[in-house]
Amino acid sequence: MALSVRDVSKAFDGAQALSHLSLDVEPGRILAIVGGSGCGKSTLLRLIAGLESASAGAIALDGSPVTAPREEIGLVFQEPRLLPWLTVAGNVGFGLEDSSEAERKALVAQALERVGLAAKANAWPRQLSGGQAQRAALARALVVRPKVLLLDEPFSALDAITRADLQDHLLELWAELRPTLVLVTHDVDEAVYLADEVVVMAAHPGRIAERISIDVPRPRERRSETVDRETRRVARALGEAIGRRAA
Ligand SMILES: Nc1ncnc2c1ncn2[C@@H]1O[C@H](COP(=O)(O)OP(=O)(O)OP(=O)(O)O)[C@@H](O)[C@H]1O
Ligand SMILES: [Mg+2]
Repeated sequence: MALSVRDVSKAFDGAQALSHLSLDVEPGRILAIVGGSGCGKSTLLRLIAGLESASAGAIALDGSPVTAPREEIGLVFQEPRLLPWLTVAGNVGFGLEDSSEAERKALVAQALERVGLAAKANAWPRQLSGGQAQRAALARALVVRPKVLLLDEPFSALDAITRADLQDHLLELWAELRPTLVLVTHDVDEAVYLADEVVVMAAHPGRIAERISIDVPRPRERRSETVDRETRRVARALGEAIGRRAA
């Protein structure tokens, strides 16, 4: 689905969190959002998810306004947010209450297989490692085949090796299902490795400082001259955006 954010502002108790922000993401593309702490990244993602409403401006998917959470939109947060009283399979199947028992079972098994967690179907969330729990959260978001997948720093609590592993997993899933993907991250390497385009945000008020296209064909190498060049470009823009403040 095509995502359009048009001149969106958001105020909390009079404080401007986002100001006149516009962006477009074409169907099936990956957009990464980077920016300093408090610049409004999570707020923007929550607005796109329909979890909050904008003070001004409009958000639309394929031209239809987003005013509340929708089935087509999948969400993954920094913490896995699994329900402790349900098994891993129970958590993944939680959003499939409209499906028959047999259908739900098949979809859950397939989703767990996809994220490499089939062996943990009957485990409890507390029995999972951080990386496994985040895989389960990814499976839960993907089991309903979302047209839009929103991720808010999904891998930032993980160690570097697990993070790289899950990034590759996410890319595989994206290639298979091709949702429009918006990823908030603190990690410039991650943004450049995954995204077609990186939006750099500045704070006070939250706004777009720069948009950088990452024209590197996939599969990408994590360390190559082109990737390093793009990474430096984004890091420089981020440094400027964090240093800069609105007058
Ligand atoms: N529910 C809320 N009520 C009041 N203020 C809020 C609320 N949510 C966010 N804010 C404020 O809006 C601004 C943007 O917050 P947001 O969480 O979107 O930042 P962020 O870019 O995601 O930061 P981080 O990188 O630390 O996660 C901050 O100043 C924050 O204090
Ligand atoms: Mg945030």
